[in-house]
Amino acid sequence: MRRAAHRPRTPTREKLDLMRVSVIGCGHLGTTHAAAMAELGHEVIGIELDQEKCLLLAAGQAPFFEPGLAELLARHTASGRLRFSDQLTDAAGWAELHFLAVGTPLDPDGQGYQTDQVVGAVRSLVPLLHEPCTIVGKSTVAVGTAERLREIVEQLANVPGIELVWNPEFLREGRAVEDTLRPDRILVGLGSPEARKAVEAVYAPILAAGGTELIVTDPATAEVAKSAANAYLAAKISFINAMAEVCELTGADVTEVARTLGIDQRIGPLGMRPGIGYGGGCLPKDLSAFTHRVRELGAGGATELLAAVDTVNRGRLEAAVALAERAAGGSLEGARIGFLGASFKAGTSDVRDSPALRLADRLHLRGAVVVLHDPQALAGAHRALPVVQYRETALEAVAGADLVVLGTDWPDYVTDPQFPARAAGAVRLPILVDVRTAVDPLPWLAAGWSVWQLGRPAQQPTVLDPTPPGGA
Ligand SMILES: NC(=O)c1ccc[n+]([C@@H]2O[C@H](COP(=O)([O-])OP(=O)(O)OC[C@H]3O[C@@H](n4cnc5c(N)ncnc54)[C@H](O)[C@@H]3O)[C@@H](O)[C@H]2O)c1
Repeated sequence: MRRAAHRPRTPTREKLDLMRVSVIGCGHLGTTHAAAMAELGHEVIGIELDQEKCLLLAAGQAPFFEPGLAELLARHTASGRLRFSDQLTDAAGWAELHFLAVGTPLDPDGQGYQTDQVVGAVRSLVPLLHEPCTIVGKSTVAVGTAERLREIVEQLANVPGIELVWNPEFLREGRAVEDTLRPDRILVGLGSPEARKAVEAVYAPILAAGGTELIVTDPATAEVAKSAANAYLAAKISFINAMAEVCELTGADVTEVARTLGIDQRIGPLGMRPGIGYGGGCLPKDLSAFTHRVRELGAGGATELLAAVDTVNRGRLEAAVALAERAAGGSLEGARIGFLGASFKAGTSDVRDSPALRLADRLHLRGAVVVLHDPQALAGAHRALPVVQYRETALEAVAGADLVVLGTDWPDYVTDPQFPARAAGAVRLPILVDVRTAVDPLPWLAAGWSVWQLGRPAQQPTVLDPTPPGGA
């Protein structure tokens, strides 16, 4: 990997009070953050240890799909405002502010976070710094981690004035670029006026545009607020999914229950769609790590609450398998299933902890022949779950199917008004199992489908049987 050359300060940068920043760790968060910082006008270097990823990024290409990201990467690597390197030294002597965006996966025991990436990045970076600067942690960490890292900074710093602050990230995958450029809040835990000045300067273009609240607090509060935000989102999803379970046992319709609840301003409609539960690279791991941490701290009530959220989420897969079995008339053995969607949610190619892929695997294990399509996640899905079949188009995936399962709510399947009729023409039996409660059943019913959704009675097609009485 060729090293990125140092660049002199440009007059434009000084005039606009723009900064030289580094982003250490260029995964989903770091790549998006680096591209967005360049879009704001800063000069940016992204540091990524994975050479293959780094080469791709340096060539201006996105290693994963996120709306708008490929365009930003191409534009800013071409202009030279955004560079990538696998050498930390390229960032250390150059940037005034260093974002830490490395991974915090779960420990192999599935409990707390592994902190070796954040600790490793700080241990490698700090001895290379010879000017005062600010390290801004963005990774999601357990409360107490920033304080531990601050002590490491103190031990290893060669010069005074190296600040460490924690600035957890709230972006949603599928809207990562938009959320980074126009976040609803920027949360920073810090301990000195110098650190505050640096954070205000790097986010100045966002704050000047309005609509973003800057919340400045202490590092522990910032860490807990991030964990609490993800826990609350997970709890909301599990709550409506628990109500879906109640509805299934009573013949009630959970979508009407959700609508009724969502109108109440204290509750709100977002995150109230019943389904197979939350997944992805954040909520499941963050909830597990937070549960582990609050248990360690001895917070009994919080531990029980968070554990229940996880239990409900885990139960959703079995509920979805049972729904598919009912829709198939009892058994999935030998059934051909056209499976739509593999990413953990629409708008991203991310298949980490994807409930859709887990469901595809379970259906395969029940003896079904699963044929899967996804608009953006085919390559990742194939690597993660090679035992099922894959097709390049949705219609190829559903061709000859006895059952179609909608696993991820991509607009390709949900909002295209032609899709229900086209898919009906391709399948053997028009039975839709929508485990995301994503489709409006009406156009599907009109195209001859029966529609099965979690927590509500099955709906039968509205098209009349074209066979004349006594005919055929
Ligand atoms: N993905 C999201 O949407 C999202 C949202 C909010 C917060 N977060 C948090 O952000 C952090 C990163 O998440 P992610 O999804 O981008 O993870 P990721 O695993 O996709 O990316 C981490 C990257 O850091 C690189 N890396 C590790 N150590 C390095 C080092 N010393 N120098 C340079 N590169 C290094 C890895 O090679 C990897 O590419 C996690 O703590 C996550 O919880 C993620």
